[in-house]
Amino acid sequence: MLFMSSAAWSQSANDWESGEQIFGKICQYCHTQGVGPVLTDRNLPPVYFTTIARNGLNAMPAFRPTELSAADLEKVAAYLSQSASERNQ
Ligand code: HEC
Repeated sequence: MLFMSSAAWSQSANDWESGEQIFGKICQYCHTQGVGPVLTDRNLPPVYFTTIARNGLNAMPAFRPTELSAADLEKVAAYLSQSASERNQ
């Protein structure tokens, strides 16, 4: 179970993916299903996402660099941080 999850996370860590796609593959299944709080449209700074994704928070798992690269994490954080202003433009 843990191994399979890690493999799925690693597979999604491709350079050509956008922050939105990475979010869809790695974060969405918890964060749009009521397991974790909604993350989009919250005006949270990118460092909030990178810090919690790397360290975890209670029931939220920590993502290691082998599961979610620094570059991909930056993209997800930028996408989530900007999700409000993009929608309201
Ligand atoms: C296995 C389910 C799961 C996955 C996958 C997951 N999260 Fe979470 N996340 C949670 C839960 C549960 C919480 C609530 C933790 C708490 O407050 O006790 C949370 C909380 C958070 C918070 C804090 C939200 C707030 O309102 O303060 C952030 C930021 C966050 N997650 C980012 C991410 C990002 C970015 C990803 C993808 C890289 C991700 N999460 C993937 C379950 C998950």
